[in-house]
Amino acid sequence: MSLKESGKRDGFTSKFGIIAAAAGSAIGLGNIWRFPYVVGENGGGAFLLVYLGFVLLLGIPVMLSEFVIGRKAKRNTFGAFKEIAPGTLWPIIGVMGIVAAFVILAFYSTIAGWTLHYLYISVINGFQGRDTAELTLMFEKFQISTFLPVFWQMIFIILTAVIILSGVKKGIEKYSKILMPFLLLLLVALSVRSVTLPGSFEGLVFLFKPDFTKLDSTVILGALGQAFFSLSIGMGALITYSSYFPSRTNLSNTAFEVSIADVVIAILAGIAIFPAMFSLGMQPEQGGAGLIFMVLPNVFLQIPGGYFISIAFFILLSIAALTSSISIMEVVVAFLVEEFNILRRYATLITAFAAAFVGVFCTLSWGAFENVTIGGRNIFDMLDFTASNVLLPVGGLLIVIFVGWYMSHADVKDEMSNQGALKLQVFGVFRFLIKFIAPVAIAIIFLNAIGILN
Ligand code: PHE
Repeated sequence: MSLKESGKRDGFTSKFGIIAAAAGSAIGLGNIWRFPYVVGENGGGAFLLVYLGFVLLLGIPVMLSEFVIGRKAKRNTFGAFKEIAPGTLWPIIGVMGIVAAFVILAFYSTIAGWTLHYLYISVINGFQGRDTAELTLMFEKFQISTFLPVFWQMIFIILTAVIILSGVKKGIEKYSKILMPFLLLLLVALSVRSVTLPGSFEGLVFLFKPDFTKLDSTVILGALGQAFFSLSIGMGALITYSSYFPSRTNLSNTAFEVSIADVVIAILAGIAIFPAMFSLGMQPEQGGAGLIFMVLPNVFLQIPGGYFISIAFFILLSIAALTSSISIMEVVVAFLVEEFNILRRYATLITAFAAAFVGVFCTLSWGAFENVTIGGRNIFDMLDFTASNVLLPVGGLLIVIFVGWYMSHADVKDEMSNQGALKLQVFGVFRFLIKFIAPVAIAIIFLNAIGILN
């Protein structure tokens, strides 16, 4: 019987364990798979700049707000709002978060499945001897097929469920702690190779030189969605995680450090991708969701020891995806366990089955269900758009309003300062951001994107 089943709440232990777990949630496919392709689709440098601004002014305050809620209530994301605001409608934020968790789990496992397949291809040396056109074709054939992508997706969901079943502390902390630093090193190596390829400079220009004519309301909403998705905020993943934090954790520092680590990894992924892309003569907006799977094998083929590097890369990317997907699945599992008294193992099974069911439709978005589209978006894009650009920002908006306007000033201050043990240097700035800047900014971005303000 696990700790959870005996009624006592499980928790994280060391300081590094906490940062590693929260960073493990944040750093994942969002940085390495999603960031490069949305930057590509949204015109490069200007998008990057807006995204960075959003991380700083909106992302970090939302993350810190989630930490305050989670650690104060020590409950799952629905229960946390019930605990702090009993008899109100605020727990609806929790319900939205649980819906978002399902949707994200469904399409996240598609891409994680692709990653596992590419790990397999690396192991059998399947990139060897192929040129850029052949590598692209190889990916496209895989993407539209039925059996293999679904098979790998199921493997990924099973792996996620197995880690969830082994409990919070033992499971999550152990896996995320050791491996993330290696991922960073590998990205540095890939970036160095990418920028030394012939004709790669244009890629750096694309990524870093802002062209503000590229900005419109859709691009700005996209940058907001990317910031929220990548930081794991807006759906209570970090409310759930911080409910396991001990009382001595410095919440502000943790939010800051995790966000910086997340941004650094995303930018490194951009440096690994765009220069290589330009060097290969590909267009930045061309790759779509398959971007990294088409570009990176070309880089592996041009790097000494590329065979081993590609294996290591896809292993680490799979693990980064796992440390994120467990934080998504944990939102639903903790909810079922604490609100419905379901045993942890059954809660995990139910969640995994439901995610697998929806997930199959996402995975077949380019194949069997390619004709199922709404407004030009296939099932995958629709779910990704709904979760990242709608549910997470709306969730984030409500979360900052909750902490900024509903919770008492004193409660928030007590939680952030560990009941007065820490000196808070930026409390005023934080308060101002969550009370005024973040809600107004998110609301304007939305109204603009729907077309109400222009
Ligand atoms: N931030 C994760 C990533 O970048 C994905 C995620 C989104 C995790 C939302 C939890 C909540 O891969």
